[in-house]
Formats: sequence, C-alpha cells, structure tokens
Amino acid sequence: MRVVVSIGGSVLAPDLDSDRVAAHADAIRTLADEGCEIGVVVGGGGVARDYIGAARELGANEVQLDKLGIGVTRLNARLLIAALGQRATLSPAEEYDDAAAALRRGEVAVMGGVMPGQTTDAVAAAFAESVDADLLVYATSADGVYDADPNETSDAEQFASLSPADLVDIVVPMSRDAGASAPVDLLAAKLIDRASIRSLVLDGTDPEVLVDAVLRGEHSGTDVVPEGTAEPTYWAQEE
Ligand code: UTP
Repeated sequence: MRVVVSIGGSVLAPDLDSDRVAAHADAIRTLADEGCEIGVVVGGGGVARDYIGAARELGANEVQLDKLGIGVTRLNARLLIAALGQRATLSPAEEYDDAAAALRRGEVAVMGGVMPGQTTDAVAAAFAESVDADLLVYATSADGVYDADPNETSDAEQFASLSPADLVDIVVPMSRDAGASAPVDLLAAKLIDRASIRSLVLDGTDPEVLVDAVLRGEHSGTDVVPEGTAEPTYWAQEE
C-alpha cells in the first residue's frame, strides 16, 4: 500500500521537542515496517507564521513570504529526517519526481513546500496523485472535516465520511473568509476531487492515531471517499 501523509507543522513541532518528533518518526517507521511505501509532507506551523508575520511587517511581498514559509517547512522536514535516520531521504525532496524516485528506492520520501501560492496541503495531494497513492492522510491539529468552522460555530458537526466533491463545496466558503481555518486548503481539495484520491483528515497530535488509521482503518476523523469506490481498503485488510 502506498500512503502519503501530510503532517502539519503545528502537529510535528508546535515547539522544539525532540521526543515528539521521535514519536512521529516511530509511527512512520511502524508503517514502513508493515510494508507501506510512505511519503511524508511536513508543514511549517506557528514558526512559519511567525517568520511570515515579521517579514510582512518588513514589507516583503507575498511570494517572498511564501518562500520564507517554504524554508520553514523544509526545516521541519529535516527534523523528521533526522529522526528517521537511514530510512528517509537525505534531504527534503524539492521536486515530486525526486520524491517519487525515493519511494521507488524504498526510502521514506520526505518533502516540505514546493512553490509559492499554496500550502503543504496541496503538496501532499499532488504528491499522492503523482505516485498513485492508495491513501492520503492529513494528520492535522483539527480532528476532521466539519460542516462549519468549529472554532466559530458551536454546533458544527463533523462528517464521518464525505465525497471529494463535497469536500470542495465545504472548503470553498471557508477559503473565502479571512481567518477561517479550512481543514485542507482549496487547491488540495480540488486535486483530491480531480484524481479521486481516497483521503483521511484526522487529529495527528497522537502519532499512534496515524498507525491505527492506516493499518486498521480505525480513526475518529473524516474519510474522504471518492464516489463509486467501496469501503477504504487498508493494508491489514489487503493481506
Ligand atoms: P503550511 O503548509 O504549513 O501552511 O506552509 P499552513 O496553512 O500555515 O499550515 P497549517 O495547515 O495551518 O499548519 C507554511 C507556509 O509556507 C508557504 C505558504 O506561505 C504557507 O502558508 N508554502 C508552503 C508555499 O508557499 N508553498 C508550498 O508549497 C508550501
């Protein structure tokens, strides 16, 4: 089974705690040991936002700000690479083909951001599409996809499952409202819809949650299931 996991910077490194990074690396290693081909895309989190905020005050333009953000995602990716040791690519892949080649070599392919104008949500979806991944997992600080922003609306309800087209419809208005936090960004949702990528959005704070979700299909987040496909088939069920 080929899996791409997007780990938010706020999940991997809300602060610099080597034990936390090691625990996420252990989860990735467990999946690789179970036979998963695994790619990981790492986000920038609060550190990226801090750099972007400071540089905005200094007058940097949006492309310059995005490049700063990309730099931080790659720093975080290097932290995870340090924890993965020999299992991972030597450095964060900057091109999808390089990441795909690393997968073919049997390495854990680790990436950060790629180009201005998007976030690592979209990188993960494009990477998943480019390698025909069986599953794309967003390990985020949100615990799934809701019908409204749960930070804004007290009775927001979580979807257990929805189609990629529904995901796009939900994310569109959230992306229009400044400050609202969409579970995945709009470009990512469109890529998931275009390529019919089976996806999961879950709370990645506890790395064990990722293992249970990928190996056993057990999670309390949201399944994004392309129409016409059966129940997600997870590695353990493909035996
Ligand atoms: P993140 O993917 O961490 O963005 O990239 P985010 O939306 O702030 O993350 P979460 O989901 O809330 O944790 C950090 C920043 O890096 C730039 C963007 O400016 C983004 O906001 N970036 C990242 C790019 O410009 N291109 C990329 O491919 C990736």
